[in-house]
Amino acid sequence: MATIQGVQRVEGDITVPGDKSISHRAVMFSALAEGTTSIEGFLPGADCLSTISCFRKLGIAIEQDGDRVQVEGKGWYGLTEPADILDIGNSGTTIRLMMGILSTQPFHSVLIGDESIARRPMKRVTGPLRQMGADIAGRQNGEYTPLSLRGGKLTGIEYHSPVSSAQIKSAVLLAGLQAEGTTTLYEPEVSRDHTERMLRSFGVEVESFTGGVRVRGGQRLVSPGRIHVPGDISSAAFPLVAAAMLPDSRIIVRNVGINPTRSGIIDVLKEMGAGLMLHNERIVNGEPVADVEVAYSSLKGIEIGGEIIPRLIDEIPVIAVLATQAEGVTVIKDAAELKVKETNRIDTVVAELRKMGAHIEPTEDGMIIHGGTPLTGAVCDSHGDHRIGMAAAVAGLAAAGETTVLNAASIDVSFPGFFATLQQISE
Ligand code: S3P
Repeated sequence: MATIQGVQRVEGDITVPGDKSISHRAVMFSALAEGTTSIEGFLPGADCLSTISCFRKLGIAIEQDGDRVQVEGKGWYGLTEPADILDIGNSGTTIRLMMGILSTQPFHSVLIGDESIARRPMKRVTGPLRQMGADIAGRQNGEYTPLSLRGGKLTGIEYHSPVSSAQIKSAVLLAGLQAEGTTTLYEPEVSRDHTERMLRSFGVEVESFTGGVRVRGGQRLVSPGRIHVPGDISSAAFPLVAAAMLPDSRIIVRNVGINPTRSGIIDVLKEMGAGLMLHNERIVNGEPVADVEVAYSSLKGIEIGGEIIPRLIDEIPVIAVLATQAEGVTVIKDAAELKVKETNRIDTVVAELRKMGAHIEPTEDGMIIHGGTPLTGAVCDSHGDHRIGMAAAVAGLAAAGETTVLNAASIDVSFPGFFATLQQISE
């Protein structure tokens, strides 16, 4: 449980923990590569620690101390059959990418996770992997955990993914790296491309083209030696939204990843009228990075849908909070994927923001928010979903009185130190 007092304004010059998507991939690819990799800026949140624990059970030596990690890669086939179940906790990225990797391994493994994972759809990944030749069993014919895999000889496929998902894309590409022939994945809109970028830094050839991506089988990974993980834009979004909606506020978040497949929140903040500036733009390990500054300005409601959705899917809970403080109506559509995240985020966002007095309606593929509403402190619940807990806390900053967030420990999944950061910027 955590309590948050409403504040007049926020101000600060801060950093946020490392990018979750990049941290997972850094550990996974380093484990599969030849050579030792030192990772700096790693996110020591629960999800990425689950990835480390799985690779240790697969026989990889990994040292972790805060945001520094050292991985002794043994090459793609250096993994050994785990003596124990691989527990991925709350992490959808871990389980889906692991399935791609384990499908190539000539041994048996079992994957489980927490209650939320047990409700999340897995056939979107087990389906294409089975088409490639992987032997996978699970509840409801491979839709739900526990999942059991026996990998082996795979054949490359041409796969048209019905959803734009980096987890599906990455699982298929990773399996494709050890399949016979080439593997091509097409997706409706481009999803985050950290896998493609990082594989290239490990010496893998990956062909990206409009509408899809292709890899040739039989490629090995060679460690780049060192990886710097930038700050997570999905975590930076919370203090940046606080600055955008509280009069007279200004926040600068240093060293944030601004990969164009992730930067939808920047476009939305600008379009709604926030004062946003990027400083010090640079490329680090193939990923664009900048210092992001947001200052309060009066905001207006907008329509959010189409190609931008995969570029801000994880930021929709906090965008909904922002929209409650904008003039006019904000419509979020084409976002049915929200229903299969850590919680059904259409339902949980609407339920929690209504408790604070927001005028918000759920729709089949998003939500409609009527802005310009003063919020009042309330007892909110994260429902075990880190981003719902953080969205409620940021709404609490803009609310009159005190807000309580129940089940706040889940925030540790992606943003350890979140409440200390809120404290630091609150006035
Ligand atoms: C992620 C991909 C996204 C995102 C998740 C992390 C990744 O999920 O929501 O938080 O690291 O690949 P989908 O692939 O299901 O869209």
